[in-house]
Amino acid sequence: MAPPANDWNVTTWRSREIAQSPTWPDSEHLGRVEGELASKPPLVFAGEARRLQGHLALVSQGKSFLLQAGDCAESFNEGSADSIRDKLKVILQMAVALTYASGVPVIKVGRIAGQFAKPRSDEYEERDGVRLDSFRGHIVNDERFDAESRRPDPERLLAAYHQSVATLNLLRAFTTGGFAALSRVHAWNQEFVANSLEGKRYEVIADDIERALHFMKACGIDLHDDGALQGVDFYTSHEALILPYEQALTRRDSLTGDWYDCSAHMLWIGDRTRQLDGAHVEFLRGVSNPLGLKVGPSLKSDDLLRLVDVLNPENVPGRLTLISRLGRDRITELLPPLVEMLRDEGRNVVWTCDPMHGNTFVASGGQKTRRFDDILSEVSQFFAVHQSLGTWPGGLHVELTGDNVTECLGGGSRLLEGDLDTNYTSICDPRLNATQSLDMAFHVAEFLQGYSAANGARSL
Ligand code: PEP
Ligand code: CO
Repeated sequence: MAPPANDWNVTTWRSREIAQSPTWPDSEHLGRVEGELASKPPLVFAGEARRLQGHLALVSQGKSFLLQAGDCAESFNEGSADSIRDKLKVILQMAVALTYASGVPVIKVGRIAGQFAKPRSDEYEERDGVRLDSFRGHIVNDERFDAESRRPDPERLLAAYHQSVATLNLLRAFTTGGFAALSRVHAWNQEFVANSLEGKRYEVIADDIERALHFMKACGIDLHDDGALQGVDFYTSHEALILPYEQALTRRDSLTGDWYDCSAHMLWIGDRTRQLDGAHVEFLRGVSNPLGLKVGPSLKSDDLLRLVDVLNPENVPGRLTLISRLGRDRITELLPPLVEMLRDEGRNVVWTCDPMHGNTFVASGGQKTRRFDDILSEVSQFFAVHQSLGTWPGGLHVELTGDNVTECLGGGSRLLEGDLDTNYTSICDPRLNATQSLDMAFHVAEFLQGYSAANGARSL
């Protein structure tokens, strides 16, 4: 058992073994950068993180649904206003499709404004007899295969911070400045999506919503008065992998005296860094943000219970989201004992499904890819498991982009292996494009409807 929280401080993780840490060539340089970051303003505020935790508490009670989505790895070369806007558009569209069909409120959390670090299966990559550090995301090094590009560079921590600031600034403007107002529901449908079947299906919902808004207006309801119609709550998240960065942005909240990692509203622990006595679990147990924990096929019931108790010793609803990523072939075998055990032990958790990371394979052309049908199959089994156990399938965690990429097979855009090279731009894992994302949202909306029909309408 880890020591109680009062033995925690922002540096206690440093005496633990740390998995997936880059070997920084110049530790003094890293130290200077950490000092500089520590003097910078926080990206998010403690009160916002608490608000998200409140929303997630409702998810843990089966009253809301969490949509967590964005890039596998954000890129330093792709922070344009258009790409951020298009990502936001597709997430807003998915949320509309989900809410409209199921009547369940959707909490929107981006894998954005800080999702720059990647755990890797191999520490080194070898090509033609040359061995270099693996690419670990732009916060560490660059994907080009030469010694200079692959050397971990602490200056990248500062670059990641600045890109996160710019991204978050734009997101805040988009989500509160009118762009996300429900009256603009038609404007979120991008041209290349609008002509697809999914785009047309979306237009039908958008028409209905528009009609409902007109109706309310005609009844004398002032729509401009209602914050919920004029903007959306949108939160940020990333994998808390590079702990020197996370520590430097961790601050004590003046209101409560609690520590918050102000690099994002929600942080998660990856499947490769969830060792009970490891540095990542040690660091994150002490911050008060809502946390995510990836649950992969090797996690056993008793270890999961220990992790839940270390990360959420007071069993606070909304504090801990478990993100299962078990693969479509194994989820029905592996998920039920874990869900059942936590249910029977009375632990308050949110269960969400990441149907991406257990369904990746290499196509015959050498590209990493995923089949839409495999992804959908895992989500469908996730719903079936929760349905049979009487627990709430609390959310969906997906890798997507608003662009017209060709990285995952099938789905709305009916992509084939031969199409993969047409527009494959991910620097890490393959993402759903906007059409495939919307297609996924319609399917998940049906699963949610089916769940509610089988369990009786939930009181919201
Ligand atoms: C990810 O979410 O991009 C990731 C690396 O996931 P996991 O830790 O589940 O492998
Ligand atoms: Co990924």
